[in-house]
Order: sequence, then structure tokens, then C-alpha cells
Amino acid sequence: MPLSEPLLETRGLTKVFRRRFFGSGSKHLVAVDNLELTVYRGDVFGFLGPNGAGKSTTIRMALGLIHPTQGSVHIAGRDLADGTRAALAKVGAFVERPAFYPYLTGRKNLEIFAGLSGGVSVRELDEALDRVGLSKRADDKVAVYSHGMKQRLGIAACLLPRPELMILDEPTDGLDPHGIREVRELLLSLARDDGLTVFLSSHFLGEVENLCNRAAIMDHGQTILQGALDELEREHRRLRVETGRPAEAAEFLRGKLGLEPRLVDGQRPALYFALKGARAEDVNALLVQAGFAVRALTPEPAWLERIFLERTTSKESNVARKAEA
Ligand SMILES: Nc1ncnc2c1ncn2[C@@H]1O[C@H](COP(=O)(O)OP(=O)(O)OP(=O)(O)O)[C@@H](O)[C@H]1O
Ligand SMILES: [Mg+2]
Repeated sequence: MPLSEPLLETRGLTKVFRRRFFGSGSKHLVAVDNLELTVYRGDVFGFLGPNGAGKSTTIRMALGLIHPTQGSVHIAGRDLADGTRAALAKVGAFVERPAFYPYLTGRKNLEIFAGLSGGVSVRELDEALDRVGLSKRADDKVAVYSHGMKQRLGIAACLLPRPELMILDEPTDGLDPHGIREVRELLLSLARDDGLTVFLSSHFLGEVENLCNRAAIMDHGQTILQGALDELEREHRRLRVETGRPAEAAEFLRGKLGLEPRLVDGQRPALYFALKGARAEDVNALLVQAGFAVRALTPEPAWLERIFLERTTSKESNVARKAEA
């Protein structure tokens, strides 16, 4: 697929916070470290990373809410440093949680947002409410909204500036499975039917796999992986193969296809390996032709999760280990 034009780009983006308390370690905290992200027009881009990786800080810089220590953010070719108003004119966003006046209705809250975005007609307001499925509850106070309804109202607010880019910080955070699905389907439809580009941070790896065409994993302020998910999958996803004489089968695959199968013993010994561009059906055919009885051949179910766990560190992991000990 040819790459379209970059819509959101960060180049050498860096944010250093000054620590207020100097109990231990350095006086500075590098929250975002030389970050290079490229989101192309039409992407649904998933931004992953453990707690404290720097996702929200990146998003805040991309929205001009805080200044980078170094580096730049370009939106549709405009440098944010040259003025946020023009660069962000066609961006709808929320960071962490959308904020509303609880004692006002959903509709009234949107009117206030609309005022901030330069005025919107009643029809456009109704359309935004309808788009997120809140038409019937638009005249209830936000105080009585469920968390999912508030998230959807947040997305409605993002739609008011008629954006071409939506930047959403954990849009499905705290939602139940129904709410997650609703928001996911809404975002997919906004991307597919309305041609919006969506950049979202998330902790749900499965969600990113299902929803996004491109993704980045961030840890300690840097990306450790970035690219088109289908390409990343081809490169990293492993195949699990259960076959007769597994050690011999591993040797055979090494010689024949240059693969590097790892034999994991257990109740049902199996080979695990990255396909490196080979196709699962060809591996199967070759094994069978060579007289190895293939009993099971399954693509690794949670490959993105494995990479995430292997390559990122949890800041809470020490606590958990001490608690276990
Ligand atoms: N205003 C601030 N002052 C000082 N440190 C900050 C500030 N904002 C964020 N940080 C620190 O920067 C690091 C990155 O935080 P950030 O909120 O960007 O992470 P995140 O990836 O969004 O995490 P989460 O998944 O928990 O939302 C953290 O160590 C955080 O404590
Ligand atoms: Mg965050």
C-alpha cells in the first residue's frame, strides 16, 4: 500500500521535567526522549506503552498544551511552534479524560465546546450527538451520565471542529466490554466512513490489533517498535507447530527454510518460530511431504502482547515482586 502524506509528525521530540523533590537520583526526568512518530493520513494509529512511558506527555505536546524541551511537532505540514491555532484547526482531541460541567446537560456542554471551536450550527450539534448515539440523552445532566456516555460525549466534542485528525488519550479507559466495543466501532466508522485519521493511546493490545493499521510501542520516552501492523506481524508473529519427531522437524525447517524453531517440551511438545516471510501453509506442506505428521499449526494468539511484555518494563513490577516474595 503506498504511503500517503504524513498528517502528524514528531521529530526529535523531547520533554524533560524538572523534579520538584530531589530525594534520590537526578534532578530531571526525561519523559519523552527524542521521539520520532509518523501518522499518515487515513491511519488509525495505536500508541501503546506501559504506565509512565510518556504517551500523555507526547499527546500534550502534540496539542500545544505543553512546550517541548526539544524537537518539533508538525500537523499537516504546519509546525506547532509557528502557532497552534492554525496547526490545530482541524484537530479534535482529549487528554486523559474529557472534562465537562456535570450540572449542565450534554447538549449545553457541547454548545460551550462549540463556542470554543468557533461556533457550530444546531444541526451540526445534533449530528455530533447522533453520531455518538447520545441524541436521546442529550438533555440529561452530564452528572447522571455513565462513564461510557461521558467518553462518547467527549468524542462528540472532538467532532465539532470538523476535524481531519482525532487525537484521543485512552478513549476506552475504564469502559465495560460493551462500552469498549461501542467506542471502537465508532472510531472505526469515523475512520472508514468519514475519512478521519485517528491517533489513540491505549493499554488494550487486542484493541490496537483489531482497530489500528499502524502502531507504536513506547517505553521510557522512546519508541521500541513502530510500523504497519501487518508488516510487524509478518516480522514478529510466531507459528506454533505440533508435529511428530519435533526435534527432527526443527532441524528440517532450519535446513529447508532457514527458520529458527525453538522446541518447547511439555505435555504437548511444540515448535515455535517466526515465519520470516514464509507462509504457514507452505511450512505445513513441506513438513507433511517430508513425512512429519502435523497435528496442529497455530499462529501465536497474542504476539503483540508478547513483544510488549518482552521489551517494555513495568514501573510497578518491583512492587509486585516484593509482594509475591
Ligand atoms: N507535569 C509533570 N511534572 C513532572 N513529571 C511529569 C509531569 N507529567 C508527567 N510526568 C512524568 O512523565 C512520565 C511520563 O508520564 P505520562 O503521563 O506521559 O505517561 P503515560 O504513558 O501517559 O502513562 P499512563 O499509561 O499511566 O497514562 C512519568 O514518569 C510522569 O510521572
Ligand atoms: Mg497517560
